[in-house]
Amino acid sequence: MATIRNVAELAKVSTATVSRVINSNGYVNEETKKRVKEAIEQLNYFPNDVARSLFKGRSKMIALFVPDITNPFFPELARAVEDVTNRNDYTFVLCNTDGDIDKKIDYLNALQQKSVDGFIIVSSSLTEDHLKNIQAPIVALDRIISPDISSVTVNNRIGSRDAVNYLKSVGCRRIAHIAGPEHVDNAINRMRGFLDEVKHEDWFDSDYVVSGAYNFEMAREAAINLLTKNPKIDGIFAGNDLMGAGVLNAAASLDIKVPGDLAVIGFDGITMSERVTPALTTMAQPIYDIGARAAEILIEQIRSTSQVVMREEFNVQLTERQSTLRREQTNEH
Ligand code: RIB
Repeated sequence: MATIRNVAELAKVSTATVSRVINSNGYVNEETKKRVKEAIEQLNYFPNDVARSLFKGRSKMIALFVPDITNPFFPELARAVEDVTNRNDYTFVLCNTDGDIDKKIDYLNALQQKSVDGFIIVSSSLTEDHLKNIQAPIVALDRIISPDISSVTVNNRIGSRDAVNYLKSVGCRRIAHIAGPEHVDNAINRMRGFLDEVKHEDWFDSDYVVSGAYNFEMAREAAINLLTKNPKIDGIFAGNDLMGAGVLNAAASLDIKVPGDLAVIGFDGITMSERVTPALTTMAQPIYDIGARAAEILIEQIRSTSQVVMREEFNVQLTERQSTLRREQTNEH
């Protein structure tokens, strides 16, 4: 297979000139350009992406790391990142890390070898130390990696306080929380927001916080145990919508009416939350906006030499649906 060097020799120019003709960047006089194009055609030469990246130093590729592609939140996030990267002529690469630190490091090393232009990372385990040898710009999305790495997140703690106060406003008197993974910063902040609003209540008990690990099945099991042991609970705030759906499933298996006996609110605003029965009230994250903004910040950093750390926080939005209707609003009397 012909190489860039073969083309240069045939056209009697340098490899740098051949690269300028291929990439249309930098001045090449018309006669030389014609000779190079004839040589490319005669040798049937195709620029190899790796060669191009080595020559130009970059691959025009952006990678997004997510911890769990089976959670609908992440495909919705990836959609936004892909739209913005493609619109800016970058190839988009999605890496599912399963929250596994070794897998993340393997992906980082492999993509560094391919001269990827930048990384957008959703991770609770990668630290600045893991990233110290990465030359390409990095933006943390959804979860903060370090104060020295740009990030795009939402107001998890305030949004959770709003969720609990909303449950109180629809008449809930004993409220529990299904929490996300204890090592994930946004799950910790959502739990803190819950505690901000209930820890002073005379009915509050530490048993009213159980872990659902951001997972449907684990949240369902935890909710069955919680509601069986604490039948007076009439409101549940789930730290994400998948767990909220697990709570709805648990209530149905215990013949607990939602709404009516129990009000349930989630967090995320994934499309699925409006499709479950009853439709799930949620604190909706601007999923598309945070993904798009992370991609914009990364592309700005790739194109500029200044690496100013940007930290942007978006607001979540209460989205009321059937799962929190007041008793008098339901048909059940
Ligand atoms: O549902 C997945 C959760 O993990 C979301 O709440 C999102 O914030 C991510 O951190």
